[in-house]
Amino acid sequence: MLVTAKEMLEKAVAGHYAVGQFNINNLEWTKAILTTAQELNSPVILGVSEGAGKYMAGYKTVVGMVKGMMEELNITVPVALHLDHGSYEGCLKCVEAGFSSIMFDGSHYPIEENIAKTKELVKICAEHNMSLEAEVGSIGGEEDGVIGMGECADPNECKAIADLGVTMLAAGIGNIHGKYPANWKGLSFETLAAVKELTGDMPLVLHGGTGIPADMIKKAISLGVAKINVNTECQLSFADATRKYIEAGKDLEGNDVDDSIFSANAVTVVNFWFNGCKPCVAELSKLNELNETLKGMGGELIGINTETLDGNKSGIEEALKLLESQGASYRNIYFDSDTEAGRYAGNIMAFPTTILIDRNGNIVGEPFLGGIDNQDNYDQLLEQINAVVAADSNNK
Ligand code: 13P
Repeated sequence: MLVTAKEMLEKAVAGHYAVGQFNINNLEWTKAILTTAQELNSPVILGVSEGAGKYMAGYKTVVGMVKGMMEELNITVPVALHLDHGSYEGCLKCVEAGFSSIMFDGSHYPIEENIAKTKELVKICAEHNMSLEAEVGSIGGEEDGVIGMGECADPNECKAIADLGVTMLAAGIGNIHGKYPANWKGLSFETLAAVKELTGDMPLVLHGGTGIPADMIKKAISLGVAKINVNTECQLSFADATRKYIEAGKDLEGNDVDDSIFSANAVTVVNFWFNGCKPCVAELSKLNELNETLKGMGGELIGINTETLDGNKSGIEEALKLLESQGASYRNIYFDSDTEAGRYAGNIMAFPTTILIDRNGNIVGEPFLGGIDNQDNYDQLLEQINAVVAADSNNK
């Protein structure tokens, strides 16, 4: 069950700690954040920007995903689902969709208008038992296309908004979204102390959590910050991990050779090789040339490197380097040794070995041994390839 952020933040103020708001942008992030919060036995706030809400197919989809996931994963720590930097209309949509918390970012309006709109939302949130975050003084940097210049809030304006009965208040104190520039002056603790002085026990929110040094975070908490927002840091690690995963060929691991590879081609030429095999490496660029020729004939060349079986990371990295160094860009596929193709590769006695496979997935003729960087070998192999292609067109 979703809860509001009210109780968790009141406890945080009293206990002199802060609760993390981590923005969610897809199912994978949501799962990672929820399971981590459960593992750490910590309350958590899931932030959803308007752009992320749109990307995830709307607020109702987000509510369904989060609630379903909490039930299926047995998440028992307090979880608030919170709209991040909402417009007035966005706030109303999230009330209807079943969020437990919203942020109305009226910082770009004149203070009177910010107050008027926040006041209306205080009433609506009370009726729906939801928590409400308000903002004074825009947060710098860019988030979701919203560009803030980063300013320090006026403590009196903060008090005026806090007095409306909001649950928590984001006050600009020189913090910005995204990475901090090298010339960033740091947080304005003077502003924070002045806001705290006037707003009492109101839980304060620190946006732009990515990249703020730990000592500043601790000091901010000692001055009343009870909620810290993080988004960019997760974006960076998600992008980094995804890139590494793909580059290491992990997405292709564990797959047996898919028959559709063969059915799409009049002939599939499969070349078995390994990194330490000099003649294998020597023919990589010629194989690339052959692949170009094959394309014009309705065929394809595929590499299978026996050192990449079973997701051998260092073998895959080395293979990719060798292919690149030889200008070879044809497809190399990875799979487990405990598959038909894996067992075939495991039984090969001489490298390089090249086999021809017809459209029905059958090996045609004898395995071709030796490097095709030798012109005689190349011509011989091409002759066999032509025979398979001719047979394929006769069978049509
Ligand atoms: P960062 O993207 O800088 O971590 O800031 C997140 C945030 O403040 C969300 O409102």
